[in-house]
Amino acid sequence: MNESEMQAVAQIEAVKKQLGDDLVIFAHHYQRDEVVAWADARGDSLELSRRAAATQARYIVFCGVRFMAETAAVLARPGQHVFTPRPDAGCILADQARIAQVEAAWAALAPLTGNMVPITYVNSDVQVKGFVGRHGGATCTSANANAVLTWAFNHYQRVLFLPDQHLGYNTARRLEIPDDDIAVWDPRFPPTDLARFQRARLILWRGACNVHVRFLPADVQRVRTEHPGVMVIVHPECREDVAVLADGVGSTSYIIRTISEAPSGSVWAVGTEEHLVARLRAENPDKQVLSLKEPPPYCVNMSLTRVTDLARVLTAIVSGDKAGIVEVPAETAAAARAALDRMLEITA
Ligand code: 13P
Ligand code: SF4
Repeated sequence: MNESEMQAVAQIEAVKKQLGDDLVIFAHHYQRDEVVAWADARGDSLELSRRAAATQARYIVFCGVRFMAETAAVLARPGQHVFTPRPDAGCILADQARIAQVEAAWAALAPLTGNMVPITYVNSDVQVKGFVGRHGGATCTSANANAVLTWAFNHYQRVLFLPDQHLGYNTARRLEIPDDDIAVWDPRFPPTDLARFQRARLILWRGACNVHVRFLPADVQRVRTEHPGVMVIVHPECREDVAVLADGVGSTSYIIRTISEAPSGSVWAVGTEEHLVARLRAENPDKQVLSLKEPPPYCVNMSLTRVTDLARVLTAIVSGDKAGIVEVPAETAAAARAALDRMLEITA
């Protein structure tokens, strides 16, 4: 640790002591170890959304990316304040569904026959969540996309699924939705011939996580050749031609649970963000935990938060400075909350 990191650690310890139960620090599993070390709770998007909805703490500091801190802000009670150490940490996937593009797609698709509902992965802007809430839809995470899509098809004839094409497609495969019932909407080149969309039950937004699409079928073939008997486990943001070759496909919490419960001596190749894979390796010394790709992919936005950023935002909180506060306009927050609450109800 260098001098500024040592100073940051001393500041974090002092603020945690001073604020006690008034402060809670959340960290996503993709955060650096130096940040995770200070978290009161570490989790995936779903776990952290649930905790954000339940905590009584006055100050919630969210170490992750912007859409996660916005979600916590939407779920916060009056008098609670959400802060992020790095307001510039966005998500390349969320950025691929801008509200104007979503509104344009809806305007083109909604007049088609049959009622339609929008569903958005939580990895989306708060305005997109608000749009979904206003149109009777729900958010989902990688842990509950099955349940949320099942709910949607029980109530509506057609679903617009935002913004991750691969999570949508991998979930559709689990629900045995045939390819003929699926169409892909490319927001950069909005289609003018809508015949395909008229026939589709599931319309997938053409968006992808630049970290997870780096895993390729050739990576699966390579680990299987180099490590006979290896179990391949991937996140559902991975391409469908990778997911189909894997032994397991599931959310961050599914990956953690599966490997921690696996027998000693088993060998795993993991297709997800490397901060998590490295931690799994350290926490499961009796197993061999490999990265599915070499060199492994990191999320640049998740990597932005350093222990010094955490110290800075905590110091700002105690001095009454609003730097790093996450504020969502009230109308957008109420509509986004409707979409989040619907998800939490469906998956309760
Ligand atoms: P989880 O929903 O599994 O936490 O994943 C969030 C994410 O950003 C994956 O890239
Ligand atoms: Fe977004 Fe992908 Fe990073 Fe997750 S890993 S925060 S989806 S860019």
